[in-house]
Amino acid sequence: MRRILVTSALPNANGAIHLGHMLEHIQTDIWVRFQRMMGNQCIYVCADDTHGTATMLAAEREGVTPEALIERLRAEHAEDFRRFHVSHDNYYSTHSPENEHYNREIYTRLAERGYTYTADVEQLYDPVRKLFLADRYLKGNCPRCGADDQYGDNCQECGATYDATELVEPRSMLSDAEPELRNSTHYFVDLPQFADFLKEWTATEAVQSEVANKLAEWLTGGLKAWDISRDAPYFGFRIPGTEDKYFYVWMDAPVGYMASFQNLCDRTEGLEFDDFWRPGTQAEVHHFIGKDIINFHCLFWPAVLSGSDFRTPTKVHVHGMLTVDGKQMSKSRGTFINAGTYLEHLDPEYLRYYLATKFGGNTDDMDFGLDDFVQRVNADLVGKVVNIASRCAGFIGKNFGGRLAGDIRDTELWDAVSGAGDELAELYESGDTGRAVRRITALADLGNRYIAEHEPWKHLRDPDRRDEVHGVCSLGINVFRALAVYLKPILPAMAEKAEGFLRVEQLAWHDAATPLLDHEIDRFKPLFTRIDKKALDKVIEATRAEAAEASAAQESHTVGIDDFQKVDLRVAKVLAANFVDGADKLLALDLDVGDHQRRVFAGIRSAYDPAKLVGRLVVVVANLEPRTMRFGVSEGMVLAAGPGGRDIFLLAPDAGAEPGMQVT
Ligand code: 2FM
Ligand code: ZN
Repeated sequence: MRRILVTSALPNANGAIHLGHMLEHIQTDIWVRFQRMMGNQCIYVCADDTHGTATMLAAEREGVTPEALIERLRAEHAEDFRRFHVSHDNYYSTHSPENEHYNREIYTRLAERGYTYTADVEQLYDPVRKLFLADRYLKGNCPRCGADDQYGDNCQECGATYDATELVEPRSMLSDAEPELRNSTHYFVDLPQFADFLKEWTATEAVQSEVANKLAEWLTGGLKAWDISRDAPYFGFRIPGTEDKYFYVWMDAPVGYMASFQNLCDRTEGLEFDDFWRPGTQAEVHHFIGKDIINFHCLFWPAVLSGSDFRTPTKVHVHGMLTVDGKQMSKSRGTFINAGTYLEHLDPEYLRYYLATKFGGNTDDMDFGLDDFVQRVNADLVGKVVNIASRCAGFIGKNFGGRLAGDIRDTELWDAVSGAGDELAELYESGDTGRAVRRITALADLGNRYIAEHEPWKHLRDPDRRDEVHGVCSLGINVFRALAVYLKPILPAMAEKAEGFLRVEQLAWHDAATPLLDHEIDRFKPLFTRIDKKALDKVIEATRAEAAEASAAQESHTVGIDDFQKVDLRVAKVLAANFVDGADKLLALDLDVGDHQRRVFAGIRSAYDPAKLVGRLVVVVANLEPRTMRFGVSEGMVLAAGPGGRDIFLLAPDAGAEPGMQVT
């Protein structure tokens, strides 16, 4: 029995699971389920990738803690995967004590062995938000062609790539402030020390040949040291021995594979972390990833593992990207489909089946053709595979008491079907499920042709031919059963229904080799229905509508007078102002709004001494929907102007104004 640990790339905790994620998790899950059917121990772990500045800023925008934000997304992601029958043994989070533990251990070992060093780096800093700015938070004029409004790393107009420090008239996208150049010490993994190891490792079976070629280009071009630190404030793990340096998210993400597994070991009898991760172990570790993140998994990750005395991956399975009708997934075209939107209208196994026809075990991009999807599922899966069972089951039920014949009537057909197991197993092992499905469909064609040639419906009434009819239909059911075995890694729910209909225990791979004889089966219930094209149209429409709603919310810069008049602005008097424990930007203000009092949390602490606010008049949005924050409910918003920091100015009504007065 092989002992195998499998992972899919960790989805970012910044949005919903979409078809791109689903492609990878379905591909991985098919491989995992196949291994389990072969009798191997196969453990499949994953997690949300949670750290980074983006998480911190998103939580701030929502007025929640990063922990609350990532836990909400983690639960949503795990549920989407579950509903697509993705059989993770653990779906964890990189923001976990196990992950912090292994990051420290790995880093400390690398540092002790001289694989790390520090160096000063000059970077752009936002003096208002008080943080170093990643490229995506910077805009300015292109240093090559002068085009304005370009990001910090490349120009959309002329295609130039550059360093953010070269931008002309740079602005912070977070505060619109002019960023300053500042020095900061960064921590590096000295990747060039691993060059020989990586040349050897990337030439092994651990990587597909086309990936090895790509890596060889990078390796001959020369490796650069890898910057693994970010300055505070950062949502992540602090680097041991520092006060304000954090591990860069891409350092702790792959370590998250180990952490998720450790977390599973801690609650699973007999499962030992070291059995899978110590150098030289026979147990296998397989990573499934997209080709956009090869460098992290085939250069940094093996280097980091080998430099810190852990085993390196057995294999990194790299897949290509998903297109829809030949084009990149797009929100406006309605093809950037979220898992949840798909599930409102369509069966998850349609997608599992269709994607399985696309996987080739290589890095070619795969196209989700909308018409092709409907056609393949309806014509092949329903029309060929399921059709065999539905054609034969009625005869067996009505005419033979639901009992299958005691022998195999036509060994030629049966041998063809039952003998395909080894070849199909090889195709599954290599990830070429596309070819496996084509082979299975060809076997279904043989089965259907056999039934058509023997026309059991014609001979049913002829007492001399009863045995023949029984034999033909029983063989049909046995062919279907073998096909259900072969398709079980792809279609676990259908296989379960088939197990119920056949009245058998869970089908294992080797079951396809032996027929079911003199055995009573259940009444046939439809295992699958055809896709209604209208349901797919609804998915596209719903996706378009989601995109339109999101962009309307983001892009609408103007507010009509009717909308503006809905805002109820009132004069209020500050009755009490207090610091808020755990919130370094907020003050809690108790306000007199005329006929009642209410509490508002205002982000003005950097500019106001609470004691001096008591008795002041302010302007408040009185009909703002109350927001639940970590510290309590905020009932409204106090209006102020200014860039932030010490420069926040509360709008001040004239002294004669009274609490409760409407501001017009
Ligand atoms: O590319 C991504 O979406 C990353 N979150 C993948 C991380 S995979 C692993 F390294 F954790
Ligand atoms: Zn340019």
